[in-house]
Amino acid sequence: MQNKVIEERAARTKWFMDARFGMFIHWGLYAIPARGEWVRSSERMPQEDYLHYFNEFSAKEYQPREWARLAKKAGMKYAVLTAKHHDGFCLWDTALTDFKATNTPAKRDLVKEYLEAFRAEGLKVGLYFSIIDWRHPDFPHYGDRQHPMRDNKDYGNENRNFNRYLEFMHGQVRELLTGYGNLDIMWFDFSYGDMAGETWKATELMQMVRTLQSNLIVDNRLEGSGENSGTILSANPSIFAGDFSCPEQMIPPEGIRNELGDPVPWEACITLNNHWGYCSTDQHWKPADMVIRMLVECVSKNGNLLLNAGPDAKGRIPRASAEILEAVGRWLDDNGESIYGCGAAGIDKPEWGRFTCKGDKLYAHIYEPQTGGLCLPNLARKIKKLRLLADGSEIQVVKHWNLVEYPQHTFFFLNPWSSDNYPLPDPKDTVVEVELLHFV
Ligand code: GLC
Repeated sequence: MQNKVIEERAARTKWFMDARFGMFIHWGLYAIPARGEWVRSSERMPQEDYLHYFNEFSAKEYQPREWARLAKKAGMKYAVLTAKHHDGFCLWDTALTDFKATNTPAKRDLVKEYLEAFRAEGLKVGLYFSIIDWRHPDFPHYGDRQHPMRDNKDYGNENRNFNRYLEFMHGQVRELLTGYGNLDIMWFDFSYGDMAGETWKATELMQMVRTLQSNLIVDNRLEGSGENSGTILSANPSIFAGDFSCPEQMIPPEGIRNELGDPVPWEACITLNNHWGYCSTDQHWKPADMVIRMLVECVSKNGNLLLNAGPDAKGRIPRASAEILEAVGRWLDDNGESIYGCGAAGIDKPEWGRFTCKGDKLYAHIYEPQTGGLCLPNLARKIKKLRLLADGSEIQVVKHWNLVEYPQHTFFFLNPWSSDNYPLPDPKDTVVEVELLHFV
């Protein structure tokens, strides 16, 4: 019999595994220094200096409807916003600290507006919540692995009461789960060393989460870190193992399976340049074709892509990001059927690209033109029909004189007037829908 946690997880994550593509949004005070969301830690910046940003944060061009429209246009089905990052700054009107957006010149509950805007566009909504808090007086400072004051003996931990911190942290999660309607994802970040699992009173926290919102899905970082996944990979996951694994800035070579060999839901979170939080000098953007192929790669291994956008100090998603996302969206308009609700095909990766699959449809994602016809390996007598997914046009199987020695394979041309399929109809990724006679 299957483990109950695993069974419930499968039901809860069904929509998530169909959605495949989401938007991660890292936004907070750190958009002003614009050197990434770890700026306090990497520059060992005292809280007093960071307060300048708090006093000036106006979010004056924050229009979450614009973000939501962009996400939708990009073909994304859900979003995750940093309600609070490690700096402890809260984008919602929490009653548990003054360090919140409603006390800045912005004077708005930014989480509430985000949720309304994304729901209005029909997208699922998630919140990222840092279980680490560099602002809270009861969170370890000196000697912590990454606290901004970790090297400063004046910030010793003698009078800090970690239980008081946990009460605060649990209280904030309760606020988010009771004051903002049903959320779809809670994205906790992150555990490290001994600061993992029950150190966070994770059983208690998860019992509260499940009681308040039983359909909510949760990542695996109450236990895992990014460096490790935790018991989500075991046959008996803990109650706080999470519903999905979230590899960071990488796509796992063979997807993710647990020790029984069963697929584990996962989502690769990846930046569009090299930063999560806005970074004015980082113009190292991944081009649209690369993003499309990352998405295809995730889906071909049963995973999701959570692609990051880091809005600037004013609250605008950088134009360069928007243009890439729109191009990805145009491709998805034509080829979304090969992504949403799709997963691994269970056949070897082909020479020219990738396969994704849904029911009796196999999708050939073609990246490289091939000389002498494109080859669908070992599928002869299993294929009912080939079509170009983008426009539905029929593709003919060819049986040329030079192919007779390969009867087990199926060959076709995307460009019948050339012998090499060059150029491909869509050089980013040309998708051929392969309708199968029966499921292979
Ligand atoms: C991390 C980082 C962080 C980022 C996140 C995204 O662990 O601490 O800044 O928000 O991962 O996955």
